[in-house]
Amino acid sequence: MGGKGYALWLFIIEIFVHFSTSSSSSSGNKVPAIIVFGDSSVDSGNNNFIPTIARSNFEPYGRDFFNGNPTGRFSNGRIAPDFISEAFGIKQSVPAYLDPAYNISDFASGVCFASAGTGYDNATAMVADVIPLWKEVEYYKEYQKKLRAHLGDEKANEIIREALYLVSIGTNDFLENYYTLPERRCEFPIVQQYEDFLIGLAESFFKEIYGLGARKISLTGLPPMGCLPLERAVNILEYHNCVEDYNNLALEFNGKLGWLVTKLNKDLPGFQLVDANAYDIILQIVKHPSRFGFEVADTGCCGTGRFEMGFLCDPKFTCEDASKYVFWDAFHPSEKTSQIVSNYLIKKYLAKFR
Ligand SMILES: *[C@@H]1O[C@H](CO)[C@@H](O)[C@H](O)[C@H]1NC(C)=O
Ligand SMILES: *[C@@H]1O[C@H](CO)[C@@H](O)[C@H](O)[C@H]1NC(C)=O
Repeated sequence: MGGKGYALWLFIIEIFVHFSTSSSSSSGNKVPAIIVFGDSSVDSGNNNFIPTIARSNFEPYGRDFFNGNPTGRFSNGRIAPDFISEAFGIKQSVPAYLDPAYNISDFASGVCFASAGTGYDNATAMVADVIPLWKEVEYYKEYQKKLRAHLGDEKANEIIREALYLVSIGTNDFLENYYTLPERRCEFPIVQQYEDFLIGLAESFFKEIYGLGARKISLTGLPPMGCLPLERAVNILEYHNCVEDYNNLALEFNGKLGWLVTKLNKDLPGFQLVDANAYDIILQIVKHPSRFGFEVADTGCCGTGRFEMGFLCDPKFTCEDASKYVFWDAFHPSEKTSQIVSNYLIKKYLAKFR
């Protein structure tokens, strides 16, 4: 035995330690935080703290959340960022930045700047007086300052660099703004012109957060918007089928987002922007609900399921079991749908960050 055996023993220990630390980091420690930008698809309650009607911090919202809490998530329970955070071995829900119940210690492992009703376009946020995307970025800058003050530059910069950023936004630009109000339609008479305007805004947004240190980003484009119960409700001539024009528009816009993703990854060194497209999986769920364990795909669980959301959702007129419904209200998926979509996105697009 003697010197050589000892050295071999140390070597074996070293390999073992190395192996176990690298395997533990691949089971969740590589991403220290989930940081969220976007609209109601990912808002965990920021709108509770601003004067807007675009809210959901009351019953029946949140009835399947921990303790049945209506948090301001537009869901009966958790939403996609919560499931993604949990799957990355972080916490079970991502708190809203404006919620005074949380502080920078909490936000160090996850924070949400999203605001229901917002869009890429400033004018979209003005419709319901919610937080415009530029202001989400201002809050993110403020967060960075607080994080550096709390943890020191080195640790804070590591979190900012290694965090997984989730961006989900754009539906409201079309449905709440372009196709509802005349202003942008006058300015951009052809919808493709408006699409290009939004793509330009998206590009500026990504360059800005890249400049601020964000690297790992998941971008979710538009869902099949024509299949949202609210849009089906008015599609009377086609027997409440999905509105194909809106679905085609979503496909077209997502295609442009895809090109933008390729371009930015080429232009910006170290940028890892992932085109985490949820269109196909959502369409599959809507077209074949029973394959995923659902019974109803054309209307939401709350009220008649055709037009209610927010204040119009009455707890007295809400379905009993939201997990049978693809949609919780006329515009937003049920918790179960969010879970299925999140699992799909993690497996298909986000696993490489783990
Ligand atoms: C955050 O709040 C927790 C308890 O709610 C407290 O223990 C902690 O000290 C706070 N952290 C900061 C940085 O204020
Ligand atoms: C949106 O509003 C912000 C703040 O007023 C402004 O700085 C920005 O230039 C606006 N964006 C566009 C595209 O008009």
